Amino acid sequence: MTNENSAKTVGAGALLLVVLLLGGLINSPSAHAQSNADADRIQQGFAMAPVPLNLMGKSSYQVALVGRGSYLVNAIGDCNGCHTSGGPPNFNYLYGHNPYFLHPGPAQANPAEYLAGGANFSTALPFNVGPGLPYGNYLGPNIIARNLTPDLHGLPEGGKTLAQFRGVLRTGVDMDHIHPTCTSSTPVPTPPNCIPPPVDGSRLQIMPWPVFHQLSDDDIEAVYEYLSAIPCIDNKTSTPPDGAPNELRNNCGSSDNSGAVMPTEDSLARTRR
Ligand code: HEC
Repeated sequence: MTNENSAKTVGAGALLLVVLLLGGLINSPSAHAQSNADADRIQQGFAMAPVPLNLMGKSSYQVALVGRGSYLVNAIGDCNGCHTSGGPPNFNYLYGHNPYFLHPGPAQANPAEYLAGGANFSTALPFNVGPGLPYGNYLGPNIIARNLTPDLHGLPEGGKTLAQFRGVLRTGVDMDHIHPTCTSSTPVPTPPNCIPPPVDGSRLQIMPWPVFHQLSDDDIEAVYEYLSAIPCIDNKTSTPPDGAPNELRNNCGSSDNSGAVMPTEDSLARTRR
């Protein structure tokens, strides 16, 4: 069963579970003091998720994290504002639901590309690193928002563990080394996908990790848990980052994802935490 299918089948049961869980949270005296505001956010988080959520196999604690994670991803972090493959004119919104247009319907994200990555943040932007530096108007590599949807094992962001995910949000490290800092001082840098100094190519660019790194451990776990519950999307349509032809592809375990990155021994051996 694909994540997408299981998400559908589990939908009704999950909703019931959430209602029961929230009831429990709100009524439990021990959780009461800290939980009223949190329970509101969890409830709103579930209500605003633009895609069906797969809560199969999650403990009630993890289900609560999913709700809180949805709130952080959809109401605060605007992750889908950047991690989408949608182009003009609707970008990450469904046709007719772009709130920046005249007479739109209610704002609604396009589930077909939700958090699947693909937006390019540097096409044709001159990468002028300043006078006297050898790279002048060197066009920097394409900086492309990555696919954050889970793989067929339900691990977010194409197979990251919680520890890896936490490391990315805390330090901005690019675990895929897609655009290392250029080492050559010649005008044509090698490899061609590198970023000239003073930019640190080992860190994610554009991605607001210097802000997200201040999230609490619990909140990062909530974002992670939510990203494990959204449907897998194998983004075959967007141009991948330079030098990383498989970066946006994701193995959703369905028959139509030939060409997706297949799981390695290592990724199969990974456990959730
Ligand atoms: C302003 C745009 C923007 C926003 C908002 C944004 N991201 Fe990103 N993110 C990016 C870009 C661009 C990259 C790739 C950067 C690069 O290649 O240097 C990225 C990379 C990442 C990566 C690394 C992926 C990998 O394969 O290593 C993770 C994880 C990530 N983002 C998570 C998130 C989460 C979670 C949120 C919301 C809480 C978020 N991002 C919000 C633009 C954004």
